[in-house]
Amino acid sequence: MDDWLKRFVPPEILSRKSYTPGFQPKSEGNLVKLNTNENPYPPSPLVANAVLEETKRLHYYPEPTSSNLRKLIAEKHQLEQSQVIIGNGSDDLLNLCVRAFSDSKRSVGMLNPSYSLYPTLTSLQRSSLALIEFSDDQFDLPLEKIISSGINLFFLTNPHAPSGLSFPQAEIAKILNDLEAILVVDEAYADFAEDTSIPLLFEADNLIVTRTFSKSYSLAGSRVGYAVSSPQIIEVLDNVREVYNLDRMSQAAAHAALSDKSYFEDCKAKILNERQKAHTFFTSLGWRTVESQANFIFTEPVTKGGKVGKEVAKSLFEYLEGQNIFVRYFPNHRLTESKIRISIGTKDQMITLIQTIKNWLNENS
Ligand SMILES: Cc1ncc(COP(=O)(O)O)c(C=O)c1O
Repeated sequence: MDDWLKRFVPPEILSRKSYTPGFQPKSEGNLVKLNTNENPYPPSPLVANAVLEETKRLHYYPEPTSSNLRKLIAEKHQLEQSQVIIGNGSDDLLNLCVRAFSDSKRSVGMLNPSYSLYPTLTSLQRSSLALIEFSDDQFDLPLEKIISSGINLFFLTNPHAPSGLSFPQAEIAKILNDLEAILVVDEAYADFAEDTSIPLLFEADNLIVTRTFSKSYSLAGSRVGYAVSSPQIIEVLDNVREVYNLDRMSQAAAHAALSDKSYFEDCKAKILNERQKAHTFFTSLGWRTVESQANFIFTEPVTKGGKVGKEVAKSLFEYLEGQNIFVRYFPNHRLTESKIRISIGTKDQMITLIQTIKNWLNENS
């Protein structure tokens, strides 16, 4: 950036690091994309019709509160409509949480590693951030560290990313009870899990649960998410929300996707089946693999000669990339540097992946 421009930009903005999204190829071509936890299946066929129909009304602004969607989501979770807010992806809602509940004195907390967007949002808001490290390499919740952290807003990713592990609800209830703060449980992957924190809303007013249509509803390209909480918190979030934060086509797409329950269940069942098969494959190789509750799997590659570690994980990541198979590798943390994260794909994609991993094993002892 030129010096003349730097004078106009606040130092916190100049020094902040922007978010690095997973690689998005320019064309789908002949590649296997298992790096950003998208759904490998397209959205319900009802979505296309609903979106096309909505294009006839694009000369009108969208309904600012996405009220039809709020109603459907409230019904889905047996909540009041006043307990629901819709966002432009759940990222939008995470941003609203930071905007509404933090500043330089009211700090934000997160587990490290977890979703790397939280620090990006925090730095935009110029809020202070507390990174809470796991105490072991099993991703057990460091409960006492969280409870004594003195933070104002805490982001808990559950199922956890990138491990895929689910934290016990009793421990989440303890945080809610003992931490005097707003707790956001980021449930981006909860549709693939056995558990959810939504029932805790009946006991606690300081809980926000965020969900997304990007993963389980195949709508990552449409950017729809939602949060459920107490009516008071929803009012605060609504107060800091962009007026028309969800366009007409996305509202229609999400409505249609949510209505097609059998399509949703069908895609989910296929993903859970492939997840189970992948888990069996990796454990049969002797690779330490988290029992995933998400639509991805986190595993520690081992060469035929028994080597593990940063170089091994990097080697597999690069080998797969060379074969046009894209997975995710996070080299910057001791708990992630020797592992790779693989989104669960279609049956055919997983067959290709597994065959390529076998080839890598044969070529790397
Ligand atoms: C933990 C977590 N939360 C939120 C999101 C963002 O979801 P959305 O597409 O709804 O913004 C992601 C996306 O990968 C995620 O991993």
